[in-house]
Amino acid sequence: MYFEFTEEQLMIRQAARDFAQTELKPGVIERDEHQKFPADQVKMMGELGFLGMMVSPQYGGSGMDAISYVLVMEELSKIDASASVVVSVNNSLVCYGLEKYANEAQKQKYLVPLAKGEVIGAFCLSEPEAGSDATAQHTTAVDMGDHYLLNGVKNWITNGNSASTYLVMAQTDASKRHNGINALIVEKGMEGFTIGAKENKMGIRGSDTHSLHFTDVKVPKENRIGEEGFGFKFAMTTLEGGRIGIAAQALGIASGAYELALNYAKERKAFGKSIADLQAIQFKLADMATEIEAARLLCLKAAWLKDNDQPYGKASAMAKVFASETAMKTTIEAVQIHGGYGFVKEYHVERLMRDAKITQIYEGTSEIQRIVISRDVLK
Ligand code: CAA
Repeated sequence: MYFEFTEEQLMIRQAARDFAQTELKPGVIERDEHQKFPADQVKMMGELGFLGMMVSPQYGGSGMDAISYVLVMEELSKIDASASVVVSVNNSLVCYGLEKYANEAQKQKYLVPLAKGEVIGAFCLSEPEAGSDATAQHTTAVDMGDHYLLNGVKNWITNGNSASTYLVMAQTDASKRHNGINALIVEKGMEGFTIGAKENKMGIRGSDTHSLHFTDVKVPKENRIGEEGFGFKFAMTTLEGGRIGIAAQALGIASGAYELALNYAKERKAFGKSIADLQAIQFKLADMATEIEAARLLCLKAAWLKDNDQPYGKASAMAKVFASETAMKTTIEAVQIHGGYGFVKEYHVERLMRDAKITQIYEGTSEIQRIVISRDVLK
């Protein structure tokens, strides 16, 4: 076992760190305040190859491993989780699924521009009445011979308005339950496809979250991914990798808050000394550092398993549940260490605390991760 990164992994981590400091940090408070999507920054991340990091160069990607992906997600998320979620969704939920399961024509048409970062994608599984219970799909894709007729509503869709390519799960044969669900590639602008208002969220406010409405949208049969009825398994296997991305996002939110708290504790004076000299603060910092390190190792383990073609569903669920709970605990403590300054926007930690919460909810709540883990350990 080697606890060392390669030269290439260290270089990409440094590139992400520099990008986060120079391009994401300026304006992050304003984007959060005004719910502004980081469009310019996403374009730059596409140019840097972050949006198709793990896609093979043959399809326009950077051909990196999942370990590098964790390193990049951590660095970006320390500064701006609204930007890093675009990287996570585009890489894990959109590009990965297309590279693994789409046919050659679909890859050329849709994966290549997504991997190059020329456009971004969205993953559309959740519905108003189907979140954790993902088999309960109400969106229908009726088989009309050469096309499917798509009707229904998708909810909480990341990149909802900014995406060009949407992977939509829909029920074709309800009698087969989850085996009757298809995954369809839907393009923005298809007739009958409209985008609802942007959600006004507690955290990751720069991220572009919308509901999507489909009314008699004709989706060509050639846009179905995999065999008839493969949609649910497509979604489940794709989410296994997505959870590594969100776990690394939670890790980054936690380590970003920890670094701010550590620096503040060294600078802030109280009772005639720096508050870092007080044991009450030292113990908080010790717990934060320990839990962050454990979260990081869980993320890297899940990524390593994925890179080595070993099962990683349990590992990614463990990484996500632990890292997201660490993000919540750490950001609350970071606000506490900052005292009153932690409660105002200029010091960043209150935003990180608000951003942390979503990591316990999206791509499977903490409760769903515990279902995935317990089923695996009990089988
Ligand atoms: N890989 C492959 N197949 C899988 C699988 C996996 N990881 N997990 C389940 N399946 C298969 C099962 O084998 C089963 O198939 P068969 O009947 O052929 O054997 C089928 O899928 C149904 O599985 P279950 O019986 O286990 O289904 P369930 O109803 O008990 O639910 C669940 C399973 C794990 C709870 C699932 O519903 C789930 O993951 N829910 C959470 C959904 C989720 O994560 N949503 C996030 C939305 S996306 C998002 O947030 C993105 C964003 O914008 C940031």
